[in-house]
Amino acid sequence: MEQPPLAKSFHHMALEVSEPETSIAFYRDVFGLKLTERHQASEVEAIPVELIFLRLAGNHHDLVLAHNPAKTYRKAADMNPLDGPPGFHHFAFEYNSREDWLAQLERVEKAGMEIVRGPVVHSPWHPRGEGSWGENESFYILDPDGHRIELFCDMASIGNDGSFIDAYGQKIEGPVVDEI
Ligand SMILES: [Fe+2]
Repeated sequence: MEQPPLAKSFHHMALEVSEPETSIAFYRDVFGLKLTERHQASEVEAIPVELIFLRLAGNHHDLVLAHNPAKTYRKAADMNPLDGPPGFHHFAFEYNSREDWLAQLERVEKAGMEIVRGPVVHSPWHPRGEGSWGENESFYILDPDGHRIELFCDMASIGNDGSFIDAYGQKIEGPVVDEI
């Protein structure tokens, strides 16, 4: 493959958790993360897991917790502390611009790689939005071991008053979520 457009950053991680309430309390108490949005499994058809969006400051989310109510999770209390966690959900790379993101989408398609989800606009507000959350445009691929990787651009930021600002500096009419 030719040289790829470089991502701006390794952005968020989405961890599977066995008990959402316990994990929300942990990340709030230990790291001071704010709870931005919380959505039930299948609230959007394509997302059969509960999703919990947490942030440090202005990013729409820095950490996502995912919980599948249909799954039986191994409990941390039953594990050797040096053994593995309940499960991996996905991690994400952010691109500098929509142009770079589109170039990477084209490159991945040309290489014949499978796009397992998207391209999709994660938004309940955007005219092309799927109903899901973050205001970003994303597609997803798998690494050779099946780890799901999100590639995205244009995620909203959240101002001090909890208002959502799109990637181009415009206030999004509707959501105001300092902390829920
Ligand atoms: Fe994500």
